[in-house]
Formats: sequence, structure tokens, C-alpha cells
Amino acid sequence: MRATAQAQPNIALIKYWGKRDAARNLPAVSSLSLTLDSLWTRMSVQFDATLGADQLEVNGEPATGMLTRVSRCLDRVAGSSRDFATVRSDCNFPIAAGLASSASSFAALVVAASEAAGKSPDTLALARLAGAASGSAARSLYPGIVLLTAGSDDIVVQSIADDWPLELVVAVTEESAKPVSSGEAMTRSAESSPFYATWVARQDEDIRSALDAVSRRDFLALAAVSEHNCLKMHSVMWASRPPIVYWNHATLTCMQTVRRLQSDGLPVFFTIDAGPQLKAVCLPEAAPAVASALSETPGVGRILRSGLGAGARRLQET
Ligand code: PMV
Repeated sequence: MRATAQAQPNIALIKYWGKRDAARNLPAVSSLSLTLDSLWTRMSVQFDATLGADQLEVNGEPATGMLTRVSRCLDRVAGSSRDFATVRSDCNFPIAAGLASSASSFAALVVAASEAAGKSPDTLALARLAGAASGSAARSLYPGIVLLTAGSDDIVVQSIADDWPLELVVAVTEESAKPVSSGEAMTRSAESSPFYATWVARQDEDIRSALDAVSRRDFLALAAVSEHNCLKMHSVMWASRPPIVYWNHATLTCMQTVRRLQSDGLPVFFTIDAGPQLKAVCLPEAAPAVASALSETPGVGRILRSGLGAGARRLQET
């Protein structure tokens, strides 16, 4: 009745932004992401017939804010007549700050909960369960470069490559939680941004370009379509009413640093999610120079680095 699992966050290059079916949390668009290796969330789940309610602890502290989403996810995995559970989460990077902590959390949760409940769904079924809690979490079940296809009935997720050694350098410009959740921001974009319909209609073009770039291991082509897709998503947000602006001053200064590195000939590009952190994707030989330039950029608090890693998996109890 007890199991522990680990998942790493994933960072989208072609972004998920918008829901086709809010009740089932199905995405309006397909997306393409990188699963990381050195950032992680570990979740342990223990079902216990003596408990009167679910309990959640994050990094050793009681966490009531996330409890409803966690309980609903446990219901979907183990059935609503399940026993209550004690859930413990440990995360080695900032939470709810645009670093995809919900992706690693729910990916780890569905693996730990299904093992604790004695169920063994296949990876796609686990990805769908994770995606019902947090759209991007479905991708963290898979390793390397991951494609999530927004089908008409349900999502399909697959790893398309895990042998291209891309590296990620994250410039953390703000550690605290974001002011507007991505779910709320997506709804606002869909309801009020004049660019939303075009965003949805053009997404498959970007997916095709990115897949083509990955299949040819063409870093510059992947860079061009990824930066385009990121800035397009943020344009949708900026044009929403009221506007959603996740960037801060340092986010823009970091973009200028990446432009300078590019003009020096370094293989690097940026992407930014629902938060002010800038993520630089680069080839391994460029990673030390990218990390040092971003760490010297004004407003950057700290640098996190990661290569590409494995999908969510069960850990042996210690
Ligand atoms: O999965 P959510 O609801 O946290 O949304 C993730 C949205 C972005 O990170 C901005 C884009 C993405 O594809 O991960």
C-alpha cells in the first residue's frame, strides 16, 4: 500500500497553451518537450484505511493549497472508493515558479499512487492520468524529446529521440510562486486574446518544423521554431484582457545575453514558460559559456543545469 516514484520536469519547445476540453483537461494544441534529468520531484503515497482525510506534505511542510488537485488525481488513479492517503513530496528546485514543478509532481504521483494501489497501467495510461491533473505532466512519463499529440478523443504521447545530448541552463530570476496559475491564464487567453484562434490554428506547422529539425539534428532550425513558438505564446498572453505578463526585467536582459552568445556563434536558444525564468537550450560544448554568461547577467539569482533524462519511474523504498 506504499510506493515512491521520481519524475523530472519537462520544458516545452513547442508549447501547450489552451484547453480543448476544460473538464477533461485536454489540450487544444500538440506540444514538444525535453524531459530533464537533474531536477526532480519524489513522491511517496501510502493508502491507509485508518486515515479520515488525505494528507499532503511538500518538502517536510503541510501543504493544503495543492491537496484538492492531489486528491482528485488519487481518485482517478485508485478509484473514488479508495482509502485516504498520506502523500509526501520532495522537490529539489523552486515550486510553482515556471519551472514545471506541477509536471514532475503529477507524473511522479500517478506512478507512486498506481503502484501503491496495486495497479499497473501502461505508460500511455499513466500519461493520460497525469495529463488530467496538469496538461504538461503527461510528457514527464517519457524520456528525452517528447511529442504530445492532441488527438480528437484523447492525447497520445511518445518519446521521439533520447540520443541528442541537448543541455538546459536555467536562469532563475525569481524564486517565488507565479501570480496567475497557468490554468487560469490559459482560460483568460482563450476567452479574450485576439491572437488565440491563430495560435491554435498554426500550432501543427510549428510541430512539423520542430520534428523535422529533430530528425535532422538541425540545432539552428530547432532554435528558430522554438523561439518563434515561445514568443508567439507570450504574445497571446500579452494581448489577453487583463494582460498576462510573466516576464520581469531580468527575463529580457537574459534574452539579450542569449542574442549576444548567438552572435558570437554559440549553439544556444531561449524559451520561457509561465514564469520569469529564462531557459537556454544548448549543445553540450556551449553549456559552460552559456551558464557563465547567464550567471553574470544582472537580476539572475542562480543557475540550474540539466541534461535530458528518463521518464517517471518507481524508486525502491529505502
Ligand atoms: O501543465 P500546465 O497546466 O502547468 O501548463 C504548462 C504551460 C506551459 O509550461 C507554459 C507550456 C508547456 O507546454 O509546458
